[in-house]
Amino acid sequence: MKKQPFSNYIIRQMRRQIFIFFVFATLLAFVFHCHRPAATAVHFEAERIPYPRLSDYAFFAGVLKKLQPNARVLPYEPITPLFTDYAHKARFVWMPEGVQATVDKEGFIQFPDHSVLIKNFYYPADFQLPEANWDMVETRLLVKRGGKWEAFTYVWNDQDTDAELNVVGDFKGVSWTDEQGRARAVDYAVPNKNQCKSCHNRDKELLPIGPRVRYLNKALTYPDGATANQLERWQQAGMLAPGDWAAQFAPVADWDKPQVGDTEQRALAYLEANCGHCHSPRGPAHTTGLYLTTDYADSPTQLGFCKSPVAAGKGSGGRLFSILPGQPDSSILVFRMESNDPGIMMPEIGRAVAHEEGIALVRAWIEGLDGGCR
Ligand code: HEC
Ligand code: HEC
Repeated sequence: MKKQPFSNYIIRQMRRQIFIFFVFATLLAFVFHCHRPAATAVHFEAERIPYPRLSDYAFFAGVLKKLQPNARVLPYEPITPLFTDYAHKARFVWMPEGVQATVDKEGFIQFPDHSVLIKNFYYPADFQLPEANWDMVETRLLVKRGGKWEAFTYVWNDQDTDAELNVVGDFKGVSWTDEQGRARAVDYAVPNKNQCKSCHNRDKELLPIGPRVRYLNKALTYPDGATANQLERWQQAGMLAPGDWAAQFAPVADWDKPQVGDTEQRALAYLEANCGHCHSPRGPAHTTGLYLTTDYADSPTQLGFCKSPVAAGKGSGGRLFSILPGQPDSSILVFRMESNDPGIMMPEIGRAVAHEEGIALVRAWIEGLDGGCR
């Protein structure tokens, strides 16, 4: 046997070790690849937004329609929501790392640039089993960029696998079985871009409506199972500046919880959520002088008591006052809430059917008022 030089032996050993190293490295890379968690970071490149599809943002992990929030995407809920044709809603807030929101003197939450507010609209097939089977309709976004908010909406496809950017508006036939077992259906209207601004409008600027201390000051159960006050949870997550905001702004009543607020508090909270964004001194209906927010609880004239309409005609239905205390049937406010005529109905956009339960509450409040008008 020919004797090999020692240097050859070294080279062979080295080759073997390099080979083993590569095998290991490949294996490791493979194992890591398989165990890599699903994408947990939201995609947000300010100059590329709006993305064509909802999934492009990666707000949610897994099956999109299950809306399981990704990292730093926090669910939230206003105490008393806006009614939109009985749609169910799932709202979320996302902010980039290292920044936080503050609170202005009216209790509106002031968000940093690149914050996103997300509002999903869906209809459970059976309202008694809302988690069993549901039809996604629309996902609306408010995105803050360069100090300004912009509104975008995404309409879900028929398979509910994703949603596509929509600017011109749309109609979607939806049907469901309500809590009383009645079959219901509506031609759900997806607002166009201009309509977003008809409601999201304070001092003529497009702004969020719901993130306000007095609307958020309540407990919520989070996907991790913990129950916490929403403001505290935002602070824990580093999304909201420290401060005892809850103590500064008392929560509005829950319109749908008779055991918590009296009829007047609940009716005013309902009117604030459904009308107050337009009917306030800073809203687009300010010229009516009809201010439907809890701030005017002690100002009957601004709330519409014995107030003559600015323009008589069709919208008043022959009635003389916005609210005739004690007489809901003679109050323009109720007449316009009950109407589905586009030239009469209030709110003037955002619904196709009247909200029976909300109307019943406002009727009960007006019925219980005394005084009449002279
Ligand atoms: C009929 C009035 C109305 C129209 C039209 C409307 N919104 Fe809103 N929106 C509201 C109100 C009131 C809230 C807050 C209450 C709630 O969430 O229930 C809200 C909440 C939201 C939120 C959650 C953050 C926030 O401001 O509270 C987003 C996001 C949103 N809307 C986006 C849109 C977009 C995008 C459009 C247009 C495609 C639109 N909205 C059209 C009234 C409206
Ligand atoms: C998208 C904005 C918007 C929303 C939301 C809205 N309104 Fe109006 N409302 C208006 C505008 C604009 C007028 C003035 C033109 C008219 O009378 O149609 C008005 C007028 C009225 C008037 C007549 C007031 C007067 O003195 O002339 C009543 C009553 C009224 N609204 C009730 C309501 C009620 C109740 C709600 C909520 C259930 C509501 N509105 C929601 C925009 C809005």
